[in-house]
Amino acid sequence: MLPPKSPEESKAEMTVRMFPSNANPAGNVFGGEILKQIDLIAGLVAQRHSRTNAVTASIDRVNFLRPVFVGNALILNARLTYAHRSSMEIEITVEAEDLMTGKRTLTNTAYVTSVALGSDGKTVEVPPLKPETEDDKRRFAEGEQRMLQRLKERKKS
Ligand SMILES: CC(C)(COP(=O)(O)OP(=O)(O)OC[C@H]1O[C@@H](n2cnc3c(N)ncnc32)[C@H](O)[C@@H]1OP(=O)(O)O)[C@@H](O)C(=O)NCCC(=O)NCCS
Repeated sequence: MLPPKSPEESKAEMTVRMFPSNANPAGNVFGGEILKQIDLIAGLVAQRHSRTNAVTASIDRVNFLRPVFVGNALILNARLTYAHRSSMEIEITVEAEDLMTGKRTLTNTAYVTSVALGSDGKTVEVPPLKPETEDDKRRFAEGEQRMLQRLKERKKS
């Protein structure tokens, strides 16, 4: 078995400024642009944890709570919440920062499942996740429940 790793070891923060090419003519940033950034940071965290090629298996329903505008900075925070054999759940929060005022607004929360692949393209084991704080432990238990729910949904389809 691989040595366990804590969520702290793979967590990431990323800040990206939004330009007109990321938005519709009214200045609202495309949902697809935000999803892309969510996917990017989730992949980074998964690779940090597993040190393998990690691919996105699923993204749970993502709600767009508030608009993001051209000129805003998008601030993404991501951490591993749960890991099974080859799959890892990453929680991502997205905030929009108005760079003129500094005001930050929560715009999205998302859960991405990444799966670790070996050089032959087959799934490989990842290090177990070792939750350390009470918060980590709560996230881990909730992540396990979501993973079981996804398994049920996969079986149905
Ligand atoms: C993700 C993928 C590797 C899973 O392959 P698979 O043959 O279905 O693998 P398995 O059924 O053996 O499942 C492997 C693991 O993935 C998990 N998994 C598979 N599909 C999943 C899904 N839709 N949601 C969440 N977890 C999933 C399984 O629960 C299992 O987890 P575990 O090893 O921790 O128990 C495969 O579907 C794939 O290559 N998809 C394309 C990925 C891609 O191109 N992403 C975009 C670019 S990054």
